[in-house]
Amino acid sequence: MSRKKRLFSPEPIELEITGLYNDGRGTAEHLGKLLLVEGSLPGEKVIAEIKGKKKKNLVAKTTEVLVASPDRVEPACPNAEICSGCCLHHQSNDAQILAKQARLQALFAAEEVPEPEQWIEPLLGPKLGYRNKARLGVRYVQKKEKLLVGFREKNGRYVAELDSCPVLTPAVGERLLALRELIGGLDAFERIAQIEVSAGDTQTALVVRHLDGLSDADQQALIKFGEQHDLHMYLQPGGLNTVHKVWPADNIERLSYALPQFNLEMLFHPMDFTQVNAEINQKMIHQALEWLQPKPQDTVLDLFCGLGNFTLPIARKVAAVVGVEGSESAVSRADENVKHNQIGNAAFHYADLFEPFAEQPWAKQKYDALLIDPPRSGAEEVANNLHLIDPDKILYVSCNPTSLARDAKLIANAGYKIKKAGVLDMFPHTAHVESMVLFERI
Ligand SMILES: C[S@@+](CC[C@H](N)C(=O)[O-])C[C@H]1O[C@@H](n2cnc3c(N)ncnc32)[C@H](O)[C@@H]1O
Repeated sequence: MSRKKRLFSPEPIELEITGLYNDGRGTAEHLGKLLLVEGSLPGEKVIAEIKGKKKKNLVAKTTEVLVASPDRVEPACPNAEICSGCCLHHQSNDAQILAKQARLQALFAAEEVPEPEQWIEPLLGPKLGYRNKARLGVRYVQKKEKLLVGFREKNGRYVAELDSCPVLTPAVGERLLALRELIGGLDAFERIAQIEVSAGDTQTALVVRHLDGLSDADQQALIKFGEQHDLHMYLQPGGLNTVHKVWPADNIERLSYALPQFNLEMLFHPMDFTQVNAEINQKMIHQALEWLQPKPQDTVLDLFCGLGNFTLPIARKVAAVVGVEGSESAVSRADENVKHNQIGNAAFHYADLFEPFAEQPWAKQKYDALLIDPPRSGAEEVANNLHLIDPDKILYVSCNPTSLARDAKLIANAGYKIKKAGVLDMFPHTAHVESMVLFERI
């Protein structure tokens, strides 16, 4: 048999799982190649079928566990096998978060980031029903004569057949079947592309993207669904600027979440960025301020500030805070939140923080402390230009440990030590890693 044929042999093979890849799959070596094995955990012996190749790696699926890891648990989700929304339901929560911490530590070691003075215990929160943001795919499968609404299948292009999702906010997670029936009953059932889910503390919104105009009957059915299930209903006939609310008919296109510790109510539009896990978000803001210990006379800069999720709590504690953000709609939402909460010491600016910023008006003053909460690609431009801001302390909140490790090395090289580092359980059952690091000038 040729080597190529042997690699893709349909025959199940026995494998020793030696590690965990960054997408949550176990890793094994097979004929000198790295094999990513779905549904396996480090330390396990499994039987797996090789499914194909992804980039340079072979991909396999566990069909039988011969020797189970002590971390293996019965998945809390009935769809764990088929749905790509999560990938770690078969691993205990404790082991999941410890593996995430270990991953951050390994990336720091690989980048030769100086050892933090203290690794802080992971910040923990709810394991189910926490997901406040999601994009659900919609697909009519002719062969099955079924309309499906949900996340994609694992390794597949198709939408998984889900009746419920225990990870999604229950307002929607427990109503997936009803949602499937609603969309399946529309005249335009084949022309609904996706549904965005966005939840605040007390209300949840669905934004239905439709590719053709909707009949009156369809519009009425969507409105009735919102009324029956207490969901805010929005339609999106085109680009983002076409999103509009149809239920309740009050023209108030806002959801909200409270930050009671700071006496704040944050308003947002369903399409705005908000942190996915409300309980962890509150704990994260609390921890950020505990670590930063801002003083009443301080001036603080909050980069990648979004709608002011950290900026407004900081404003409650310091003399002045400046937020900078690359989405114009987020900047205007931050301004709106300043007014809504009657805050007088916060200012917001629009800027692309991946570009040089020395000439920006907000970069012409010095700050006592800097908070950075960038998107997945990190904050390399900021880390390379810290002398412009010159903070005594830097708090870095990250959703990607790889870009964090790169930037932490740059920040350390700019004359900062790492006082504290830790992970937060923002995305249980997924491979996403949220981290926080506190730097202090040496
Ligand atoms: C992880 S979110 C954090 C938002 C906010 N700190 C929060 O807690 O809700 C990252 C933010 O970075 C913004 N962003 C993405 N690319 C950017 C860029 N090139 N320049 C400035 N901001 C950017 C996004 O719009 C988003 O608001």
